[in-house]
Amino acid sequence: MKTRAAVAFGAAKPLEIVDVDLEGPKAGEVLVEIMATGVCHTDAFTLSGDDPEGAFPAILGHEGAGVVVDIGPGVSSVKPGDHVIPLYTPECRQCDFCLHPKTNLCQAIRETQGRGVMPDGSSRFSIDGEPILHYMGCSTFSNYTVLPEIALAKVRDDAPFDKICYIGCGVTTGIGAVAFTMKVEPGSTVAVFGLGGIGLNVIQGAKMVGAAKIIGVDINPSKVPLAKQFGMTDFVNANEVEDVVDHLIQLTGGGVDYSFECIGNVTTMRQALECCHKGWGESCIIGVAGAGQEISTRPFQLVTGRSWRGTAFGGARGRTDVPKIVDWYMEGRINIDDLITHTMPLDKINNAFDLMHQGKSIRSVVLY
Ligand code: APR
Ligand code: ZN
Repeated sequence: MKTRAAVAFGAAKPLEIVDVDLEGPKAGEVLVEIMATGVCHTDAFTLSGDDPEGAFPAILGHEGAGVVVDIGPGVSSVKPGDHVIPLYTPECRQCDFCLHPKTNLCQAIRETQGRGVMPDGSSRFSIDGEPILHYMGCSTFSNYTVLPEIALAKVRDDAPFDKICYIGCGVTTGIGAVAFTMKVEPGSTVAVFGLGGIGLNVIQGAKMVGAAKIIGVDINPSKVPLAKQFGMTDFVNANEVEDVVDHLIQLTGGGVDYSFECIGNVTTMRQALECCHKGWGESCIIGVAGAGQEISTRPFQLVTGRSWRGTAFGGARGRTDVPKIVDWYMEGRINIDDLITHTMPLDKINNAFDLMHQGKSIRSVVLY
């Protein structure tokens, strides 16, 4: 079949909206009509050419929601008509990682997914017979896409696609970091570095689990009103205090129980660790630092009881946890609507990248 798609033909070039040939689903695969997709920093990172795993031409996009159209042989967990969210972190429920209680990093299709192909080693997308690569196993910048069955979370069908697509990456990453990776307890003191889309989701996750004090750290005070609406109790403007770490330690009488780095800057990663309370404070890295960058601290920070951790996809096991997060949204426990600041049709998708780079959007969503 043919599908409309925004194709990345090369690094740092605008996406081109073209008709692409799409082969039907093979064994274990599912054809999905994407109804909406978010545009995330990770797409921009790969498009920039800085992503060491990035390759072109490819169809980017990994934050979608849609409907199952057709299934290949052997598929049993979804059927045509089911509403689904694509998972760039799949859940096979069989590999050593899925069977280990401490990780969500299913490795079942990691190698082929990283190379931009389906598990059988080939691509379903092509133009004039020339293959176009998949991306993060999702390629949600195509109106129709093919995914492995293990990379689809089946969700309730009364949830709006234009909102729940954001659960495919940003929402789950932020809220999951709090609820699944760090397991923040009620009454905790939390610091959130960076009040963008990820940081706001960390804040609402911290509020949801009952954190008592939620301190936001940013250099842009225009982020304050929305952060407060989402549950921030205190704000620290990093440009207006002499030393962010000393300031946070004073503000909390010794340091925070948990901190989250949602910027992707190795300097703020260090600050996030060092503002943790001696003896028990734990810091979680969510932001993606530039290729080749390294973090540093004095080992004594860890010797004296602080822990440095990280998370991908919020520690969520997608097929199990994503439907729950959709329920949280439908029950009004989390807010997605106020984070989606812009929507556009596919042929305006390049605007979404411009808005992101200009810092004007929290999240842009493409509606098919
Ligand atoms: N100190 C404090 N805040 C900072 C600093 C700094 N040195 N530098 C930037 N910020 C703030 C910005 O003002 C902005 O509010 O961090 C926030 C980042 O927000 P976004 O640009 O919206 O980024 P977001 O989508 O939240 O993603 C954050 O996670 O997914 C990864 O690759 C992504 O690394 C990025 C991070
Ligand atoms: Zn993402």
